[in-house]
Amino acid sequence: MPNNDYLEIEGGVPLKGSVTISGSKNAALPILCACVLSDGKCRIENLPDIEDIHRILEIIAMLGAKVEQLGSGIIEIDPATIDSHVVTYEMASKLRASYYMLGALLARFGKAEINQPGGCPIGQRPMDFHIKGMRALGAEVVERGAVITASAEKLVGADIYFDIASVGATINIMLAACRAEGRTTINNAAREPHVVDVANFLNLMGASIRGAGTDVIRINGRERFHGCTYAVIPDQIEAGTYMIAAAATGGSVTIKNVIPTHLDSLSAKLMECGVDVQTQDNGTDFVIQVNAPERPRAVKIKTMPYPGFPTDLQQPMTSMLATADGVSDITENLFENRFNHTAELSRMGADIVIYGRNAQIKGVEKLYGADVCATDLRAGAAMIVAALMAEGTTRIRNLYYIDRGYERLEEKLIGLGARIKRICADE
Ligand code: EPZ
Repeated sequence: MPNNDYLEIEGGVPLKGSVTISGSKNAALPILCACVLSDGKCRIENLPDIEDIHRILEIIAMLGAKVEQLGSGIIEIDPATIDSHVVTYEMASKLRASYYMLGALLARFGKAEINQPGGCPIGQRPMDFHIKGMRALGAEVVERGAVITASAEKLVGADIYFDIASVGATINIMLAACRAEGRTTINNAAREPHVVDVANFLNLMGASIRGAGTDVIRINGRERFHGCTYAVIPDQIEAGTYMIAAAATGGSVTIKNVIPTHLDSLSAKLMECGVDVQTQDNGTDFVIQVNAPERPRAVKIKTMPYPGFPTDLQQPMTSMLATADGVSDITENLFENRFNHTAELSRMGADIVIYGRNAQIKGVEKLYGADVCATDLRAGAAMIVAALMAEGTTRIRNLYYIDRGYERLEEKLIGLGARIKRICADE
């Protein structure tokens, strides 16, 4: 839980070696919630050991399910003993993904009560698309302040259209619709790899979902869902963070346990910067090799839903571009408040000007170590990249944000030659 520990990083060391990517946070969270739909036990593998996973498992246990750790990254959930449909403020406020319980509990029990979720302060992050979708399926949804209550005698398939290709709303409606009567079509659906992973898991349990990964998802409702065993895909955002850190430090890094196509937009952008990015099939799986030039070139970036440039990598990229050759320009199209990290970067010597959803980054010779803090999860990743690049020592606080999404961060970075340690505040 939040504390005053901090990371101390000596920068200026090019990262070298190989790093193995953990399971995807943004796939694992909805898949764990989806276990609620099953009549039998579900065994989920390749789960990352991060705070958000701990929190969602606490929520599932508090609802009455049996949750058992079977090994490293392996959890078994038996939902048969669930006896509540309420996710309290105390539970929901710790992470955004608690909102998936709205669709899962509504589909299983015909009722759900959640509190507006927590998560990174990167924008207003409303749930209007989620609520519109649930109502289209026949649920009565009442919002009283932060409490959202949904109920339905029976959910009936519907034709749903999202104004924005929302990841959360797409997954939440998939969860609700997979036990609805008849067909549901989600138009302008999000196409992220984690949307596909959730659909694959639901289909393994007995659902009938077609088109995940495209902008039209068709769901034919099914009555019964059985238990199964499923391994979560690798985390493309974690992988992208290490690719950016390699490029930012002039390093040479091999990324293992990754699905390269999930990172095509980042690889293309890094190559635009003059970074050499190669995908190799090493016989058992694919790896991505990143070899960086002395100084990357400046570029323009516009974040977009998948397969466009991922908003979750905009912040680490900003750090890398802080010392690029030239003036870079980033447009953040997904969230209205996702530049909080730039103020912290300026304290390290970065030259960044914000115009609404635009950041103009003038490449400086170098960054300098400073005392900084993580303002959200991926801002924390940005501070780590900046600290690895900077001359001197950087101390990063608000580690709870970082620990929400990056497994064994220090261990993985030390394995790449970084000089990093976690200082416990009461030491
Ligand atoms: C998910 O958030 C991820 N979180 C985010 O990752 C990620 O940045 C985001 O998708 C985009 O890829 C999880 O998966 C737990 P959205 P989510 O719904 O579902 C607006 C991380 O670092 N919108 O795709 O909240 C919304 O405000 C986190 O791992 C509505 O207006 O994102 C935003 O502007 C940070 N109404 C846009 O859509 C709604 O009902 C995209 O949001 C829903 C969304």
